[in-house]
Amino acid sequence: MSKIVGFVNQKGGVGKSFTSKVVANALSARPRNKRILLIDCDEQATSVAMRKRDIEVLRSEEKPIEFSYPIATCLPADLPAVLAGKKPLQIITEAGPISCEFDDNKYDYTFVDMPGRGQSNDIFALLASLDYAVIVIKGNDSETLSTLDFLKIIDRSQKLRTSHGIELLNLALMYNEFENTTIYQNTVRFWEKMKSKHGILKEILYLSSKETYKKYDNTYSNMLHELRSNKSLEGLHKEFSSFVVKLTNFLEA
Ligand SMILES: Nc1ncnc2c1ncn2[C@@H]1O[C@H](COP(=O)(O)OP(=O)(O)OP(=O)(O)O)[C@@H](O)[C@H]1O
Ligand SMILES: [Mg+2]
Repeated sequence: MSKIVGFVNQKGGVGKSFTSKVVANALSARPRNKRILLIDCDEQATSVAMRKRDIEVLRSEEKPIEFSYPIATCLPADLPAVLAGKKPLQIITEAGPISCEFDDNKYDYTFVDMPGRGQSNDIFALLASLDYAVIVIKGNDSETLSTLDFLKIIDRSQKLRTSHGIELLNLALMYNEFENTTIYQNTVRFWEKMKSKHGILKEILYLSSKETYKKYDNTYSNMLHELRSNKSLEGLHKEFSSFVVKLTNFLEA
């Protein structure tokens, strides 16, 4: 059975798409070789655009058009029906999008890239479909406040699960673009307290913002090239590797 993992937050530009792609790239590569499907639930479709660009680059270089994981699209409101096999999703291929039924046994992980805005009913449907959620935030105060609002939606979703006897959503909080300044330290303390007090968060992760990480935010132009020269994750930046290890441990627990 595929674990359904959402990279979520209703706040835009915090790095949901970036994180879903870098983690999909890392987990699908050696040595982990996980079978991953990435579903882009954002109408902006940044992950899809990137995949299309990769296809064009590969084609222009007359290289084989193959990727370590497929990217598909679906609207947030359709996610429950898609995952239940009642509606097709659109897989992005060289020949254009192909309609195809979700196959639960085909993937170890199904990653869901959540839109940075949306109707709360749609967001609720999306959250209800997940087994794991990684809440991606940036480290300053205003982000913490808007994430608190989002946590309230998650809390409602958890209560609904409890009332229906469904297992709770496993939550991790990811500080993207974390920097070691006073304001960041204060928000970290706040979240650490949240973690121990409410026990709703299982893991808190940190990743700093580095130009070099952008190379993992792509499938062909940078990532495959990089992986071919490094052959394994060992060549990745130390911080990035330990971030991936932590996140993987959270997903495997
Ligand atoms: N840790 C990081 N290091 C370097 N660049 C990053 C990092 N995190 C995000 N970025 C870059 O920041 C920009 C915004 O990230 P991204 O598009 O993933 O945000 P998002 O939350 O998906 O936004 P939206 O809500 O609009 O979908 C992208 O150009 C991405 O490559
Ligand atoms: Mg996005």
